Amino acid sequence: MSKPLNVGVIGLGILGEQYVHFFQQHPQTRVAAVADVRAETAERVGAAAGAPAFADFADMLKAHALDLVAVATPDPYHRDPVVAALEAGVPNIIQEKPLATTVEDALAICEAAERRRARLFVNYANRAAAYDIATRYVIQQGLLGEVVYGEARLDDNIIVPLGLWGQRSREWAAGSSTAHFLLSHVVDLLRYYFSPAEVTEVFAISQTAVLGFTPDLYDAFLTFDSGLRVRVKAEWIKHIDELVEFYLCFSGRDGTLICNKRGGFGVEAGWRANLADTVSAEELMAHRQALDERGARVAARVDRPEPTTGQLSADIATLQPSLEARGPSAGGLMALIGHCVDAILEDTLTPDSWRGNGPLPTHIDGLQQTKVMAAIVRSAAEQRVIRVA
Ligand SMILES: NC(=O)c1ccc[n+]([C@@H]2O[C@H](COP(=O)([O-])OP(=O)(O)OC[C@H]3O[C@@H](n4cnc5c(N)ncnc54)[C@H](O)[C@@H]3O)[C@@H](O)[C@H]2O)c1
Repeated sequence: MSKPLNVGVIGLGILGEQYVHFFQQHPQTRVAAVADVRAETAERVGAAAGAPAFADFADMLKAHALDLVAVATPDPYHRDPVVAALEAGVPNIIQEKPLATTVEDALAICEAAERRRARLFVNYANRAAAYDIATRYVIQQGLLGEVVYGEARLDDNIIVPLGLWGQRSREWAAGSSTAHFLLSHVVDLLRYYFSPAEVTEVFAISQTAVLGFTPDLYDAFLTFDSGLRVRVKAEWIKHIDELVEFYLCFSGRDGTLICNKRGGFGVEAGWRANLADTVSAEELMAHRQALDERGARVAARVDRPEPTTGQLSADIATLQPSLEARGPSAGGLMALIGHCVDAILEDTLTPDSWRGNGPLPTHIDGLQQTKVMAAIVRSAAEQRVIRVA
């Protein structure tokens, strides 16, 4: 085994602490240093990890030659630590989503990453969730026929903007929005599922009726260069029983996929793809096997309820192929990070552990996602269709 990667972590809040734990436990990384503007937080996390702590990331970057820096500062504050780490010669960066909250910041990060020839991954964590790996697979294999419409909503409980970050919550939420914090995930997932399609046009609305210090929601129609249209919505004013509600549905010419990723209240989490009836039983089993190899365990079914009677329809002449999984999706906030470490060690964007899922997300994906988000925010402000430059 090669020498462990020396890792520095900047921003030690909810996500940053998870990074520290992850890198402490990973056999091929060691936490070499940590930094947070809240000096007491840096000291506490550093002491627990046995790593030197810094209140200023610039001092950390001066004092340590790091192989990898992870950045988990709040949404609008990604640029300075990422660019500083790149300018200090750090060859690998993993940073939190969104890449940035402005196109200007995103371009500055991309410019520095490319000039320093560094590898920069963005933790679009959902890409490594089993249900999202399965959704991408089904769409890319054409098992729904051409997908013509989709809808996705990713909503947060109102306690997120009011209390998730303690006393800092209102300021935190005001510095971001449901576009940057939530729709960044959704837009990235759509680019992942439908690659190489890109969003060309956006029409969005926003609303500020409840919170006042940040928009309550963004609701947007996205048009892709493939002709696909998807409605995406994210609000953070819901009085629901869970922290998050996440639902996606795609209509193809020959099939439909529904993912209840996070129920919100009373909805069982699950994933179901009703496939084109041209898919044979043998092909269905081969797809199930392919998904299994990608870590997405799904059941293969050849029947489904007949909608008007609820009776199961199944005989060999009326095969109703579908793939299905019940319960919460495997894959949490750190699920993608192990693959990024593998990519660094193997010097590639497609490490063995990520085979079949396309390249891992980089600053290029981050830039595209940021451009779509800027178009959503502008469209809502100007109440007109905005083309994504
Ligand atoms: N990938 C995911 O699924 C996922 C989930 C939740 C949050 N996030 C993202 O992770 C990032 C962090 O979110 P969080 O909830 O951990 O926020 P947080 O506020 O809990 O943590 C951010 C930390 O950064 C520190 N900080 C701020 N400016 C700094 C600077 N200049 N130098 C050093 N430290 C600084 C803060 O003091 C704080 O401790 C956000 O961009 C958020 O959108 C990603």
